[in-house]
Amino acid sequence: MAIGEKITISVIKADIGGWPGHSRVHPQLIERAEEVLSRAREEGAIIDFYVAQAGDDLQLIMTHRRGVDSEDIHGLAWTAFEEATKIAKKLGLYGAGQDLLKDAFSGNVRGMGPGVAEMEITLRKSEPVVTFHMDKTEPGAFNLPIFRMFADPFNTAGLVIDPKMHAGFRFEVWDILKHKRVILNTPEELYDLLALIGAKSRYVIKRVFPKDGHPISSDEPVAVVSTEKLFEIAGEYVGKDDPVAIVRAQSGLPALGEVLEPFAFPHLVSGWMRGSHNGPIMPVPMHQANPTRFDGPPRVVALGWQISPEGKLVGPVDLFDDPAFDYARQKALEITEYIRRHGPFEPHRLPLEEMEYTTLPGVLKKLEERFEDID
Ligand code: F6R
Ligand code: MG
Ligand code: MG
Repeated sequence: MAIGEKITISVIKADIGGWPGHSRVHPQLIERAEEVLSRAREEGAIIDFYVAQAGDDLQLIMTHRRGVDSEDIHGLAWTAFEEATKIAKKLGLYGAGQDLLKDAFSGNVRGMGPGVAEMEITLRKSEPVVTFHMDKTEPGAFNLPIFRMFADPFNTAGLVIDPKMHAGFRFEVWDILKHKRVILNTPEELYDLLALIGAKSRYVIKRVFPKDGHPISSDEPVAVVSTEKLFEIAGEYVGKDDPVAIVRAQSGLPALGEVLEPFAFPHLVSGWMRGSHNGPIMPVPMHQANPTRFDGPPRVVALGWQISPEGKLVGPVDLFDDPAFDYARQKALEITEYIRRHGPFEPHRLPLEEMEYTTLPGVLKKLEERFEDID
């Protein structure tokens, strides 16, 4: 393994039990997952790993040589989740095994409950990477920050002043309802891109690629987001997706500070209590990623890594553990206070079409027969 060789970074996460309620991951689950991944590292199945937490989601961050969608790696993650679920059940944790929606592993964890963000990359001389971990929200919560990192010159100075970035980037956008995708070029198609991704419950940024002429090959992703939709898998509400993302930084990509800058603004995302409310996303260090107030507010953790020439994960650096993000946290609390006072009213509560996959239709159904025509 050396610079110029291919390596895969996989972030696979699942909510397999909360402590208490839907608040945080119990340390024993982290320990169990670490044991499973440690063994796999000793056996050479993976190069390196780190087990993190964001709210009630257990996060497996792994490097390996088996490419994306590897049956071995997905099977390993499934085993780690299953093993940790046994502990969750023993401790009586809340919703033990909740995101393991299928009884047996069948080759790929996509479509089985866990969320996945993976990228196969050619290691650069130095490879700075940030993994983002959100709780109490959906994949579309990444639309605004990823857009800002790679397409907004008011966020990313490099788009204006770095010749390597000046040509812009390509965005792969998924229509998660119709299971279709489109690639849009920025800055040329900036407005088309925004026309789609502003509707964040339907159109989500899946990947970002460089353009031809960039030091990184144009078929290699520089950012990737997990886009699993739990409700489509389960057929009924089982919580929000709580997405993850991987973003590469520096040397012709957004600088580390440009990758973090969008989170200085705690934008509104959907999720929060019962996956049914809009609220601000609060950037926090890992030890504060434990939703409390009204099961929230939604949180995002940013872990910084350097990938060594051997593919080792050098880190994590808990990037939002910094007073520079105190203002964003304070702002998120002000917005929380303001929006909470709407109680069950929109736009705090999500619009009806987004409530379709929650428990609300069960309540509305009971009233159906009492409705009579108005003359
Ligand atoms: C949000 C979330 C929680 C639960 C809420 C009710 O993603 O997971 O807000 O929806 O705590 O949970 P149950 O129905 O399990 O009591
Ligand atoms: Mg949960
Ligand atoms: Mg969660």
